[in-house]
Amino acid sequence: MKFSEIKFNFLCPKIIFGKGRIGELGQEIVKTLKPKGNEHPKTFLITGKSSLKKSGYLEKIRSSLEDLKIDLEIYDKAGKEPTTTILNKGKEIALEQKANIIVGIGGGSVMDTAKGIAGLVTNGGIVEDYHAGKEFLKAPLPFILIPSTSGTGSEVTNNAVIKNEDSGVKKSIRGLWASLALLDPKITLYLPKKYTAYAGADALVQAIESLVSKGSNFISVFFAKEAIKLLGPNLPKVYDDLANIDLRDKMMLGSLLDGLSFANGKLGAVHGFAHPIGIKYDLPHGLICGLLLPYVMEYNRPLNNVAEKYVWIAELFNKEKILTNYGECPKSLPTDNKGKSKWIIEKIKDIFQYIGIPLHLSDVGIREEDIDDIVKDTTGSSLANNPRDTDKQILKKILLNAL
Ligand SMILES: [Fe+2]
Repeated sequence: MKFSEIKFNFLCPKIIFGKGRIGELGQEIVKTLKPKGNEHPKTFLITGKSSLKKSGYLEKIRSSLEDLKIDLEIYDKAGKEPTTTILNKGKEIALEQKANIIVGIGGGSVMDTAKGIAGLVTNGGIVEDYHAGKEFLKAPLPFILIPSTSGTGSEVTNNAVIKNEDSGVKKSIRGLWASLALLDPKITLYLPKKYTAYAGADALVQAIESLVSKGSNFISVFFAKEAIKLLGPNLPKVYDDLANIDLRDKMMLGSLLDGLSFANGKLGAVHGFAHPIGIKYDLPHGLICGLLLPYVMEYNRPLNNVAEKYVWIAELFNKEKILTNYGECPKSLPTDNKGKSKWIIEKIKDIFQYIGIPLHLSDVGIREEDIDDIVKDTTGSSLANNPRDTDKQILKKILLNAL
């Protein structure tokens, strides 16, 4: 591509990144709201049921906000997934409390809950209205997102996936940008092994899907490559060394760069499949994404522009000597590009297998007779941005290969 042909749109919130920077939360709330005289900002803090309390961070936050005379109301009902009930109820409480800023601390579900409540507070109505097509025309209540995992990238995207409890359907609501994404890798030191693996797998899958997506552009590709450089080599290392802050730092930075990439460059068929499978089988998002990526890569590989990027990843992972004494992937990288683009798929299977992600759908209880149902519900913008076009027959074939 010639430089004169470069065009892109790039959107993201204000970002603060670094170890220990959660201590700046109070100052950032003051900077965002600029309270006058005796005004006390009222913070509505959304989190999960227990992990923040267990880690001791909740008490640290509480005392640092008290020092700045910032009132705090905690809503710890954000669970494994954001639902219409949790959001609608949260909005009512935030309004009753006259909250003027929302803070969401947790994984993707907590951050999506915070986004949705911030939008509902200023725009009115209930989530179901927005699922039915209503738009957020007013700016949301200011909100700050603090991820506790290195994986979802939700802190820098403007959409939230919410489950309708009546219909069981998950649907995005969009247009909700955080006032600030505050990333402190120290928080992730408390994340257990299994969730470190699933979140890291999700981040690596998102970065690879974004790298080759139809929606990618000059800058989203730049961020995807930088994300892959951090996530690929460090995912198996952090899995073996959870208390290593240096590795946690690299994973969180990789996850942020991946979020910036796909928020602007979109995803692909893995994420098209991930939503219906996640709903039907109650499987962790990162697990299902990691399991399916090699099969979707194999389908996309015949496209020249995709294969070129797979070769780039293969050469990078070979140079980094990732898991050279583990798994099925041949030790030496083939010399031809076709061989390299196949080699990287095997290497990615090895990485995911090493961190405990199954290689086949049958390993997680999905049977051949379930596949038509999954394919029927595989739709949406991620699928539309897969680099190689698909149809229902092709989707079925990919899943059969993954069985
Ligand atoms: Fe994902």
